[in-house]
Amino acid sequence: MMANKQRLGVNIDHVATLRNARGAAYPDPVRAALMAEAAGADGITAHLREDRRHIQDKDIEALMDALTVPLNFEIAATVEMQAIALRLKPHAVCIVPEKREERTTEGGLEIAADQSRLADFIIPLSEMGCRVSLFVEADERQLEACVGVGAPVVELHTGAYCDFHAKGDIRATDDELKRIMRCAAFADELGLEVHAGHGLTFGNVGPIAALSEVAELNIGHFLIGEAVLMGLEPAIAEMRRLMQQARA
Ligand code: PXP
Repeated sequence: MMANKQRLGVNIDHVATLRNARGAAYPDPVRAALMAEAAGADGITAHLREDRRHIQDKDIEALMDALTVPLNFEIAATVEMQAIALRLKPHAVCIVPEKREERTTEGGLEIAADQSRLADFIIPLSEMGCRVSLFVEADERQLEACVGVGAPVVELHTGAYCDFHAKGDIRATDDELKRIMRCAAFADELGLEVHAGHGLTFGNVGPIAALSEVAELNIGHFLIGEAVLMGLEPAIAEMRRLMQQARA
C-alpha cells in the first residue's frame, strides 16, 4: 500500500552523545527535538540504552512533556525498559536488540527464537495503546514471526545497504536494496506497517524513500552530524526534500 506522505522520525540520541562527552548540560536533546519538530519532523525517536550512554531517563521524561509530535521510544526488551514505557506511555515503542559492547544497533531482533517472551513483552504495551514496532533485518522469516508475536509495525534495518553504499560496492548495495524491497512488500502483504532506518544519509536515502510500502523513515546520526555543519533545520528540510523527490 502506498503511504501518501512518508513520515520522517528524527532520532536525537547523538545530541545527547555530544552533551555527555563533556558531562555538560548542552546541547540539550529536548531543544533539538523541538527544533526538529519546527523543521517538519513527524516524530522524534530516542533510544534509552541500558548503559545510558546518550539519552538519559530525564531526557525521556522531558521529551514526553515537551513534544507535540509523537515520541517513538526505542528500547531493548527488558523488564526495566518495559516498566519505564508503561509509566510514561509514549505514542510508540520500537523494540531493538542491544549489546553493551556494540557502537550502535548492529543487527535486527531474532524474533523467531524469542517468540513467546516477545509476545508477553508486547501485550501490556499494546493494551496501553502504544504502537509497538520491531526492528528486524529484511528477512521473511522474521517478518512472519512479527505477526506471530502481535506487533503491528516492523522497522527494516537498512544498515547493511548503507554500509555497502558507503564502500561503493554497487552490486552488494543493489542486492541489499532488492532484499529490502522484497521484504517491504511481503511485510505489507502480511498487514504490517513498514518503517525503515539506520545509516540513512542524503546520498543513500532515495531508493529507500521510494519504496511505496515504507510509511516512515527514522534517521539520526547523519542528521545530527549535518546539524553541526549546516544546522538542524536545513538538514531536516533537505532530507525531506530528497524523500519527497524519491516518491514523486
Ligand atoms: N532505527 C532504529 C531502530 C535505530 O536503532 C536507529 C539507531 O539508533 C535508527 C533508526 C537511526 O539510525 P541512524 O542514527 O544511523 O540514522
